[in-house]
Amino acid sequence: MSQQSLFAQRRRLLRYLVGGGAGAIALGLLRPVAASEDAELENLCSIFPNNSRCADYLQGEQALDLAGNPIAVDALLPTLTPGEPLPVTGLSDDPELTYLVIEAGPAIAPYGIQPVCTHLGCTVPWDAEQNRFICPCHNSQYDAAGRVLQGPAQRSLPLVTVAVKQNQIRLIDRAPAVDPR
Ligand code: FES
Repeated sequence: MSQQSLFAQRRRLLRYLVGGGAGAIALGLLRPVAASEDAELENLCSIFPNNSRCADYLQGEQALDLAGNPIAVDALLPTLTPGEPLPVTGLSDDPELTYLVIEAGPAIAPYGIQPVCTHLGCTVPWDAEQNRFICPCHNSQYDAAGRVLQGPAQRSLPLVTVAVKQNQIRLIDRAPAVDPR
């Protein structure tokens, strides 16, 4: 190989290394910015789901039916009965279920119920016959919005935020800014 082509080869190698290094540095700088923007948007849209910046952003986790399938809101709505909470999954394993609160319309309320008894933490299932949540441990009872009907529990069932958008139900593991009950 001539000395000239050897120099040309070295120049190409040097250009490649410098270009690649700059690219890597730029990517390294951009990644934390994008991550922090995502976190900021998630935070904003979790607290204010109707903020204009959140129109295209899907915050939280998608609600699934009890078979683990994503729920389409347009198919679900006609099947709902106001006042009859609907159990869904998708948020976490503990508690496994979140109950959607169904309002007149029918419409899905912007909050859901976590069925964790505020007395000593037992899981509280919905009893459709009695039309209330009944704790199997010491018989505390709560209405369809999670308000205490009978002790020993003193406080309402905890809430999470719910947002309906893009034909999905999004569950956000954060209580609404104001308890609507
Ligand atoms: S844990 Fe529910 S009533 Fe005691």
